[in-house]
Amino acid sequence: MLLLGQTLRFRAKPIHVGPQDAVLHDSHGAVLVRDGRIAAVGPAATLRAAHPGEPVHDLGRALLMAGFVDAHAHYPQTGIIASWGKRLIDWLETYTFPEEMRFADPAHAARIAALYLDLNLSHGITTSCAYCTIHPGSVDALMGAAQARGLRLAAGKVMMDRNAPEGLRDTAQSGHDDSAALIARWHGVDRLTYAVTPRFAPTSSPAQLEAAGALWAANPTCLMQTHLGEQVEEIAWVGRLFPDAPDYLGVYERFGLTGPGAVMGHAIHLSAREIAALRDSGTAIAHCPTSNAFIGSGLFDAGLAETIPVGLATDVGGGSSFSMLRTMAAAYEIGQLRGRALHPAQLLWLATQGAADALRMGDAVGNLAPGREADLIALDLASTPAIAERAARADTLWEAVFPTIMMGDDRAIAGVWIAGRPSGSG
Ligand code: GUN
Ligand code: ZN
Repeated sequence: MLLLGQTLRFRAKPIHVGPQDAVLHDSHGAVLVRDGRIAAVGPAATLRAAHPGEPVHDLGRALLMAGFVDAHAHYPQTGIIASWGKRLIDWLETYTFPEEMRFADPAHAARIAALYLDLNLSHGITTSCAYCTIHPGSVDALMGAAQARGLRLAAGKVMMDRNAPEGLRDTAQSGHDDSAALIARWHGVDRLTYAVTPRFAPTSSPAQLEAAGALWAANPTCLMQTHLGEQVEEIAWVGRLFPDAPDYLGVYERFGLTGPGAVMGHAIHLSAREIAALRDSGTAIAHCPTSNAFIGSGLFDAGLAETIPVGLATDVGGGSSFSMLRTMAAAYEIGQLRGRALHPAQLLWLATQGAADALRMGDAVGNLAPGREADLIALDLASTPAIAERAARADTLWEAVFPTIMMGDDRAIAGVWIAGRPSGSG
């Protein structure tokens, strides 16, 4: 199959080089898809001439690019997104934990897993890295639903053995054993990756963090995901719970929970030591800008992406949107509040290749490049009257794209392909 449209791909990281050198744009481009992978990207005329018999799907002026990758989300929070008036700890206790309790019921888990993935697809998110709940069945529900849709996905059972309500706690031993059984069942099956998932330091005993570290060491191709330095009250709490640790990240370091494949959600309030340790260990950060504004957590420093792998993330449902466009807009706004105007190329990179790199999937997805899995989206750059009016005045690609980043939503997703197959949504 030959997809025609404008094409956008990266040949370098737009954090380190300017957008003109980092991005290749073809206003009459084409993507050749074969056996679920990208076989070639180039000018439409060239690829059409080279593949005369190939079925053609013409997307017109739409922008063909890699599907969005969401580096951090909580699928069980789909139904409590946009819950009013709380900060992190109260928000967890008031809204999140009661909802997560419902995932003891496999029918509820199956319904929300399907809804979550279909919402992702309609927003052009083709891969996400998701927290489930403490219930192993919540992982089976999401992995099974992803498998049925042919999706690349990472997910894991939340490990939480203290400071959580009755009914939402495992133990160091059961959390380890249940996670190990899930790894055996799902990790590496089709396009699925398991993520060892201690929720965050306050809800795991030292024994559980140690068990999580041992499990990850025994299964090093799994990811490891947790939260770090999100709110000041949380950080003070970690200091009281782990008085011997040098800082929040030091807790995770002690238990072998840092390094490539470790993904820290938020990472807003960091000491100089923590920043250096993240950088030196190759630990990744998931930047969750709508959440950081919505729960009142703080302003992430996107400059960290110069030395630390950073991917963009919705953090559904502490985050307030399923849209990676809206999430890029929030990242832009937070950058502005910190005196750094992120370029549209940087925003798109954080939402695709940057997030894929953070999840150690950067060779498989995240860019339009031969050999990559053909998870693609087509962006309509004139999806509403307001966006169309602004885009009509654009003199450059970036002026044409930026109104969609700032004002776009699922209406801008004109097409989604999973491993080369058109998805029903979008
Ligand atoms: N820290 C621990 N759990 C959570 C969660 O579910 N959402 C967010 N935003 N932060 C957390
Ligand atoms: Zn989170």
